[in-house]
Amino acid sequence: MYYHIVTYGCQMNVHESEKIAQILEDMGYTETKQRENADIIVFNTCAIREGAEDRAFGNIGALKQQKRKNKNLLIVVCGCMTQQKDVQEKMYKTFPFVDIILGTHNLYNLKTLINRKIKDRKRICEYEESGDLHEELVAKRTSGDNAWVNIMYGCNNFCTYCIVPYVRGREKSRKKIDILNEIKEIIATKSYKTITLLGQNVNSYGNDDTSQGSFSELLQDICNIDGDFKLTFMTSHPKDLSDDLIDVMSKNDKISKELHLPVQSGSDKILKAMNRNYTASHYLTIVKKLREKMPNIRLTTDIIVGFPGETEQDFEATCNLVKEVKYDGIFAFMYSKRKGTVAEKMDNQIDDETKHKRVNYLLNLEKEIKAQKEKI
Ligand code: SAH
Ligand code: SF4
Ligand code: F3S
Repeated sequence: MYYHIVTYGCQMNVHESEKIAQILEDMGYTETKQRENADIIVFNTCAIREGAEDRAFGNIGALKQQKRKNKNLLIVVCGCMTQQKDVQEKMYKTFPFVDIILGTHNLYNLKTLINRKIKDRKRICEYEESGDLHEELVAKRTSGDNAWVNIMYGCNNFCTYCIVPYVRGREKSRKKIDILNEIKEIIATKSYKTITLLGQNVNSYGNDDTSQGSFSELLQDICNIDGDFKLTFMTSHPKDLSDDLIDVMSKNDKISKELHLPVQSGSDKILKAMNRNYTASHYLTIVKKLREKMPNIRLTTDIIVGFPGETEQDFEATCNLVKEVKYDGIFAFMYSKRKGTVAEKMDNQIDDETKHKRVNYLLNLEKEIKAQKEKI
């Protein structure tokens, strides 16, 4: 019996797919890279932008033929997309050949759901409003010499454009002891060169459970573990990036000198409308501090263009910030309306042509900066 997993979205989802893989292996399935050979196919979806959802819908729809040929094929759809009730319902109605649909908070129950489907043959649609931590889920690590380690789940920030807080629930930090034990096990295998800590906003680690200590304390405790490894983490929210964190990063050789620090916009007006809780000048101060202590730090960022109300001047402010920081990499996204978010209802939505123009401008700017840096 073979399984095949299709993963969309962020590293968090990549790691979650590793947990799905382990659940399936424990049930006696073996991985196949060929979708046509699979007895069970799992789609682990992402809802961050409309494009991600459309792609998943298209690819799931394409399975109709395979299901027709193999009536016993099981098709499972999980992840952020199906944590939205209306999307679950649409999926259920549009794709009668999908067997199990579940949200992000039901993953721990996957084995039971598969067994129930096999026994009763009835289609399953599962949804829970919120969820708990599930330490019993372990990962079948599949990302080469990098091992992902979740330190927290969910997000409390409610940036006005973003769906994540709605589909991942509130912030929940894992117990420090559980994180340290997982990392010690990873190091003991000697199979991994890097460990990447994951969370939507790693800097707020422990805010929901202060007895675990802060993120910078966690980093220091991990660095104190004996062994030859590099440590990195994502994602950092500028509003919570502390001086302590910069200190710990600069003092410990085990921590890679790289930071993904999404700025989203260089305009204070837009940052406010996005509910990001920092200004462009605060962001630049952090960059200055980081570079003072770590002159060669590799900085990357995420930027959204075409957020409602973004004028040419606002976009220019973003370009100016990009020129000042001279990033080592930029992920530029066109704003995509997400159902249920605050920005969905905002006036002055920007047309697609302007969004395309701005995103292309940023990509060219990134190339120019790269070329300049290579000359030096
Ligand atoms: N937690 C991380 C980001 C998670 S989503 C953080 O706060 O930085 C990854 C990126 O997707 C975001 O940084 C943002 O740039 C982009 N993004 C999120 N929602 C979006 C939307 N509605 N439209 C376009 N891009 C979006
Ligand atoms: Fe989304 Fe903002 Fe949370 Fe990041 S911090 S996941 S962008 S709400
Ligand atoms: Fe997408 Fe969910 Fe990650 S919406 S970006 S897979 S947390």
